[in-house]
Amino acid sequence: MPATDQELSFETKVVHVGQDPQQWNSRAVVPPISMATTFQQRGPADHAGFEYSRSGNPTRSCLEELLASLENAKFAMCYASGLAATDNVVHLLETGDHIVAFDDLYGGVGRLFRACAMPKGIEVDFVDARDPQVVAAALKPNTKLVWVETPSNPMMKIVDIAAVSAAVKKGAPQAILAVDNTFMSPCFQNPLQQGADIVIHSITKYINGHSDIVMGCIMTNNLKLHEKLRFLQNAVGAVPSPFDCYMVNRGIKTLALRMQRHHENALKVAKFLETHPLVEKVIHPGLESHPQHLLAKRQCSGFSGMLCFYLKGGLAESRKLLSALKLFTLAESLGAVESLAELPSVMTHASVPAELRARLGISDALIRLSVGIEAVQDLIDDLDQALAASQK
Ligand SMILES: Cc1ncc(COP(=O)(O)O)c(C=O)c1O
Repeated sequence: MPATDQELSFETKVVHVGQDPQQWNSRAVVPPISMATTFQQRGPADHAGFEYSRSGNPTRSCLEELLASLENAKFAMCYASGLAATDNVVHLLETGDHIVAFDDLYGGVGRLFRACAMPKGIEVDFVDARDPQVVAAALKPNTKLVWVETPSNPMMKIVDIAAVSAAVKKGAPQAILAVDNTFMSPCFQNPLQQGADIVIHSITKYINGHSDIVMGCIMTNNLKLHEKLRFLQNAVGAVPSPFDCYMVNRGIKTLALRMQRHHENALKVAKFLETHPLVEKVIHPGLESHPQHLLAKRQCSGFSGMLCFYLKGGLAESRKLLSALKLFTLAESLGAVESLAELPSVMTHASVPAELRARLGISDALIRLSVGIEAVQDLIDDLDQALAASQK
């Protein structure tokens, strides 16, 4: 038997870490939902680990312990959403500080930087972080944060985390490298091992996996950063409810199984689309046609259910395809058991400035799929009939 949790395999950790029944008097096999907002103290300021549920909650603690272990991190903190987690990182900065951000990001993160950080005097440069030299050239003495997403949403671009980390450590040792690992989940990619200072997840996606909870988290190995972020988690107060933590603690147990199925299904769907005459191009890091396929294979141990493709035609054809789908649901979000399809240009990435959308290739013919865990042939058949319907 391994001596520490960290020596256990991912599939075992995801079921057992943070779940020890001996934590509870009742020895319940799953952590109970602890709804209490406040906790009895033995004497003034003499508490048993919990004071008030915003600063700490037993159900949330179990989940945080488990999440830390999955990223091989010392610390994890949960937030009310992925954006609340991102906002806590932005709170580490002050007026006059500088952020270097990947130009291909989930629209909401870009919006937070543009609409909330920049007006407060924080400078942000959006660059193509696929090239570590481009990141290095953007670093300045006041750069405090480098923010990347890999694979990126929606263009599935890959950032070489180790190379960017080396560039940041050399060119701006005062800066934090943050990696949004939402698309891969801790199952397929562990950025802290590759030199990131913090990892962010929208738990809303793969980690919870059932389209019924909005939550985010941050993991780190850096004690000082942990202390600052833990302070902000309480001071800013965007924490998740104990019920939501219970739900994530339940959904996460099948993460390894789900990710394997997402990986297999999406790769088969990508290969089907790649041969389809009505498809212009498929973007999936697991395809040899992806320009960063070798880097993706080196950096990740699998691929998720995410891919996008260019349909032949424009907005009218995309609309027809999306409304003809029967199994894929037309909806924002991603990473859950059911397959979803969306049009980033008018949905998830509508807040990206039009000029940047055009430069990134987020056109009205770009369809994003989140391939679920259904029988893959049913999904392929659904896409096949919808592709035919798109040209009628
Ligand atoms: C890659 C990525 N990061 C962050 C977020 C924001 O997370 P949330 O919606 O949980 O606030 C999203 C949401 O779609 C996302 O796709």
